[in-house]
Amino acid sequence: MITEPIPSKVIDHLKNFGEVTIGEKGYFQTEEHLLSEIKDYDALLCMLSSPVSKDVLKAGENLKIVANFAVGYDNIDVTTAHSLGIKVANTPDVLTEACGDYAMGLLLALSRKLKEAEQYLRDGKFEGWEPLGFLGMELRGRNLGIVGMGRIGQAFAHRARAFGMNIIYHNRNRLHRNTENELDATYIENLKTLAEQSDVISLNCPLNESTHHLVDRTFLEHMPNHALLINISRGAVIDEAALAEALHSQTIAGAALDVFENEPEVHPSLLNAPNTLLLPHIASATHRTREDIGMLAADAIISVLNGKNDEEIPNLITP
Ligand code: DGY
Repeated sequence: MITEPIPSKVIDHLKNFGEVTIGEKGYFQTEEHLLSEIKDYDALLCMLSSPVSKDVLKAGENLKIVANFAVGYDNIDVTTAHSLGIKVANTPDVLTEACGDYAMGLLLALSRKLKEAEQYLRDGKFEGWEPLGFLGMELRGRNLGIVGMGRIGQAFAHRARAFGMNIIYHNRNRLHRNTENELDATYIENLKTLAEQSDVISLNCPLNESTHHLVDRTFLEHMPNHALLINISRGAVIDEAALAEALHSQTIAGAALDVFENEPEVHPSLLNAPNTLLLPHIASATHRTREDIGMLAADAIISVLNGKNDEEIPNLITP
């Protein structure tokens, strides 16, 4: 079962191997629909929007593998899957560069107020070059604070270095000294210190118990008033009500959000917050990357159903 239409190359690849059903766009975003149909399937290729809960996994009497069409897999109850002997795969590496590009794009758009400036022009307000119009933040010499220095955090850091930014970061584990040197990155153990010292905060961590609402009112209050926030990880890393309040009260200067806690819903106070870019979870949305994501997920399914050893399947999540 593939829960949504995905690139045709991936579907053809799986069809060469076995019988494939493709869900309608959006249909399998509910637990109820998954529960009613999962029983017949040996493998599930699901989107990050599909709640693969304990009940869904238990209902999947024939399931051998759940492969997520994403690197983040907080939508899957991995502990239950493993306890039932169901393997879980994700798609690391293949989307790193697309997401690094995208984070840089968000930062440039946000720091130079591109959305507001374009709207101003479209509204017919552009009456000629203005010395004081749309002044933004120049990136050179500014501190970029990255929360979560995995593959995507590092890809963003490389790009930001090329723009002359200083990289500071927080991570569950400090990076090896060689990697820190390569990125010219400074580790900051305390999150509040990172918030205080950053001109831009970028969230690149997975969503789990320790990162849920990591950016809360206190964190936001530690950020400088001119600071910007970028989130391409998961919406629930931010307390959205607190962020909306911080944007409206200008506790921070702007945010670019690609992800939301209750997608596709967006917190109503974010919709009219100043200097805020709101995007529909498209960090990995390039033709090449989405095809690569699909092929990696499909290969994990084929390998598991062919009885390959776990060690030979690089993108299985280990118990
Ligand atoms: C992922 O793969 O987890 C991303 O959220 C896709 O953009």
